[in-house]
Amino acid sequence: MTSYTQDLEEKGFIDQPVDRSLDLIQEIKKLKEEKNAVILGHFYITPELQDISDFIGDSLGLAREAARTEADLIVFLGVHFMGETAKILNPGKKVIIPDLKASCSLAESAPAEAFAAFKAQYPDHTVLSYINCTAAIKCMSDVIVTSTNAVQIVESFPKDQKIIFAPDRNLGGYINNLTEREMVLWDGACMVHERFSLERILELKEKHPEAEFIAHPECEKPLLLVADYIGSTTALLKYATEKSDSKTFIVATESGILHQMKKKSPDKTFIPAPSNDSTCACEDCSYMKLNTMEKLYNALKYELPEIQLGKEEIEKSLKPIEKMLEISDRLGL
Ligand code: 13P
Ligand code: SF4
Repeated sequence: MTSYTQDLEEKGFIDQPVDRSLDLIQEIKKLKEEKNAVILGHFYITPELQDISDFIGDSLGLAREAARTEADLIVFLGVHFMGETAKILNPGKKVIIPDLKASCSLAESAPAEAFAAFKAQYPDHTVLSYINCTAAIKCMSDVIVTSTNAVQIVESFPKDQKIIFAPDRNLGGYINNLTEREMVLWDGACMVHERFSLERILELKEKHPEAEFIAHPECEKPLLLVADYIGSTTALLKYATEKSDSKTFIVATESGILHQMKKKSPDKTFIPAPSNDSTCACEDCSYMKLNTMEKLYNALKYELPEIQLGKEEIEKSLKPIEKMLEISDRLGL
């Protein structure tokens, strides 16, 4: 076994020493040109990685970009399920992510076998799955949704349509309330969005009475009940920087989004919502933060680690993703 492969098996990334004298930004740009690669980055990665990405966005925007890219090599700075989505949309291309261990607590909360058994209890239900799930769950789904289009996609089904929504119980519950439906919910959640502390947020609101509290629908219901605005990362960004006249915002989603907010509105103040554990940086997604400049450099150089999916898995999981893109285009989302 080569040391590269050993590294991948043990650590999930290429652990080759990176020369400290290298200007990584320039080297990454050079490699990208040489290989006709595109770097797609999610809003939750670190500011320097956001700034070196060719496209930065939320799950829907990144899926769209992956579907239209003409690059030969796709480098995904996000988490594993996002790399999988890019691969499903580009089966003939190499898709790499800097660290294979960049998982997602939400995706992990829905293991394939348990979900298959759950689904079997509701044979007459349509399965809508949030994009934060593994390819195996996508294979068992009828339509994929993201937090940007979930409400509208649910609304596009007749009111009496029986629906299973997976894997996020918070997003599912939020949609049930908003659309007055009773979708059956899989009991999964995101560890970052579940850890925000209502008590500490209310204290912050008291200290900053002029601030608006904005939250991602992956947060728990008691938090959403006191939010001034609820939306996907893109919606939160637009609201805080374009739509609202407020000058201060308490933001309940992964802290990476604050970089784009500050860039777009340097005159405004963005306060990350505190979590229920003051000793950790819990508003950071530890999986997203596995992406680093050094790992990106090595990934581009060695074109590893690569997202691997079987032909059948790609074919099956492509259908509900295409359905999502088709409905989103039709609804102008
Ligand atoms: P969006 O990118 O759809 O806002 O979802 C947030 C998220 O949790 C991604 O992991
Ligand atoms: Fe998954 Fe939550 Fe991290 Fe998003 S923030 S990648 S949902 S663990």
